[in-house]
Amino acid sequence: MNTDEATPLLEVIGLSKTYPAAAGEPKTQVLSAIDLTLRAGESAAVLGPSGCGKTTLLNLLGTLDTPTAGTIRIAGRDTAELNDNARAALRAQRIGFVFQEHHLLPQCSAVENVLIPTLAKGVNKQGAADRAAELLQRVGLGERMNHRPDTLSGGQRQRVAIVRALINRPALLLVDEPTGALDADTAGQIMDLLIELNTAEQTAMVMVTHARDLAARLQRTLRLERGRLAAAGAPA
Ligand SMILES: Nc1ncnc2c1ncn2[C@@H]1O[C@H](COP(=O)(O)OP(=O)(O)O)[C@@H](O)[C@H]1O
Ligand SMILES: [Mg+2]
Repeated sequence: MNTDEATPLLEVIGLSKTYPAAAGEPKTQVLSAIDLTLRAGESAAVLGPSGCGKTTLLNLLGTLDTPTAGTIRIAGRDTAELNDNARAALRAQRIGFVFQEHHLLPQCSAVENVLIPTLAKGVNKQGAADRAAELLQRVGLGERMNHRPDTLSGGQRQRVAIVRALINRPALLLVDEPTGALDADTAGQIMDLLIELNTAEQTAMVMVTHARDLAARLQRTLRLERGRLAAAGAPA
């Protein structure tokens, strides 16, 4: 892994995605020639209405899906040049995901959920339990580490999901409408926490949302419109 300070953590060049046509329908080009560069510690919000391609973009950045065209480099590595195993290892070790729905396992406690990403092959397990406890403490769940998700509030569950995303010290944090299922006050608290942890951990963060007020809190605000990504406010 290239850890040269000058190498951007995330480098996206000419990224396009077209989904195959359903029967009787035209093909849809969701993303067209997107460029994006982020350094460690930088955060960007991607704003756009439902259906504009936000989740598609995050899935591509997270190597969960394959682009139609273009290049994605993570810490200097072209993700298209990795085989499936190497890509899975990159994902497990270097990328954290937070989704709109927390996707916690109902039968596992908060701390067990947080430790799931550390079970992946090639992940350094040393200190994982200590780090899990420390992070849960930090997000105010020290007393609830052994509680199952159904005994936690929506905001608490999303905090567990954020800690789970950070447990392997990812270089890149991908966040998909993290507060979409929460009330406004809880959403604000979750944003505070994401920004605080992201600064402390010096990850690069891409958060997609349709909430302008939340987007404005990150360092850069971009808008995804008709497949193009531009600085918010600039003509698309
Ligand atoms: N796997 C898929 N196959 C075909 N079309 C898809 C697929 N995933 C998403 N789409 C379409 O791509 C567009 C963008 O979807 P998505 O990325 O989920 O948008 P957003 O997250 O901004 O709401 C939508 O028109 C959606 O119907
Ligand atoms: Mg989406």
